[in-house]
Amino acid sequence: MTPPTPSPRDNQPKRTVSIIGTGSYVPEKVLSNADLEKLVETSDEWITTRTGIKERRIAAEGENTSDLAAKAALAAMDNAGITADEIDLILVATVTPDMFFPSTACFVQTKIGAKKAACFDVSAACSGFLYAIEIAQQFITSHTYDTILVIGAEKLSSIVDWTDRNTCVLFGDGAGAAILQHRSGGHGVISTFMGSNGELADILQIPGGASRSPVTKDNADQRLNTIKMNGKETYKHAITSMLDAANRALADANLKSTDLACIIPHQANLRIIEAIASRMDLPMERFVINLDRYGNTSAAAVAIALDEANRTGRMQVGDYVLLIVFGGGLTWASSVIQW
Ligand code: ACO
Repeated sequence: MTPPTPSPRDNQPKRTVSIIGTGSYVPEKVLSNADLEKLVETSDEWITTRTGIKERRIAAEGENTSDLAAKAALAAMDNAGITADEIDLILVATVTPDMFFPSTACFVQTKIGAKKAACFDVSAACSGFLYAIEIAQQFITSHTYDTILVIGAEKLSSIVDWTDRNTCVLFGDGAGAAILQHRSGGHGVISTFMGSNGELADILQIPGGASRSPVTKDNADQRLNTIKMNGKETYKHAITSMLDAANRALADANLKSTDLACIIPHQANLRIIEAIASRMDLPMERFVINLDRYGNTSAAAVAIALDEANRTGRMQVGDYVLLIVFGGGLTWASSVIQW
């Protein structure tokens, strides 16, 4: 057999990948715990003590996931100082795409005018943003692309069962974005880890509305096209999986938890974050938290928190930052970044 012809990429050294800008956007409308008391049998006291959530944002009529995503993207481009024509690839992590197809990334492309970009969506539920960061990193490391826009965006208000108090109090809408590029100088994504367990698909899912159970009047009446969650099981797996992901990314980066300037965890429940902090032996002040204001925004959660940490100076150049996510699939992931 003749050996394959070497590609021009074969001789190039792997490149380090940096997050050179971040952005986020949340809709204007605030839905407070007091507002939810009027919708379902719940209380501000129950929601606050069980989850830490005080309010969440809800997209306006006609405001779609791609609108939230495009606003976050424009803020990230501004923060990075790049123009739309520099973007080679757009990745949108979402469980609430505008449509099954085209991808939400294609809608974002048009909205921001990134004409030369290739576009696709990433489906990994709440873990999608870190999965997309890892995909972007591989494309840049391998010299395939130079500049990649990664977005986590959700309009979860469109898939929430507003009659189910077990879930409707937890979720909100929003988007966060990051621009990734090669930068020399030692900083960037140092290590990443991704895990999945499809055997636990049934503890957190939207069972209807797709090809297995297309929309019919009957399954719409049963609200099968909304989020179904076994909260207790999800809670348990969230803690163990996020801790495992954190430990693996830290070990791979050759770092200890005490080396971290801050940790940006998935924003599902304050008690989950407290359990992780306690098991990592770290003070809560080290964790970036915004779930009190936005609830769980799935793939957007860590992306929004990363942008807020960036803009409020929580991360200084050279700091080590750990991102950890968990979601339906089950899926989970982590990433150590030197800012
Ligand atoms: N208001 C008042 N009472 C409520 C509410 C509510 N909103 N929701 C549930 N209850 C009741 C329940 O019916 C139950 O009553 P019962 O004992 O009479 O049956 C009681 O409160 C206790 O319910 P639990 O399920 O035991 O409550 P728990 O302390 O486990 O908290 C919660 C529930 C907040 C959902 C928690 O389990 C959790 O956060 N789970 C993890 C969610 C998560 O991490 N998701 C991440 C991924 S999301 C994604 O991928 C899209």
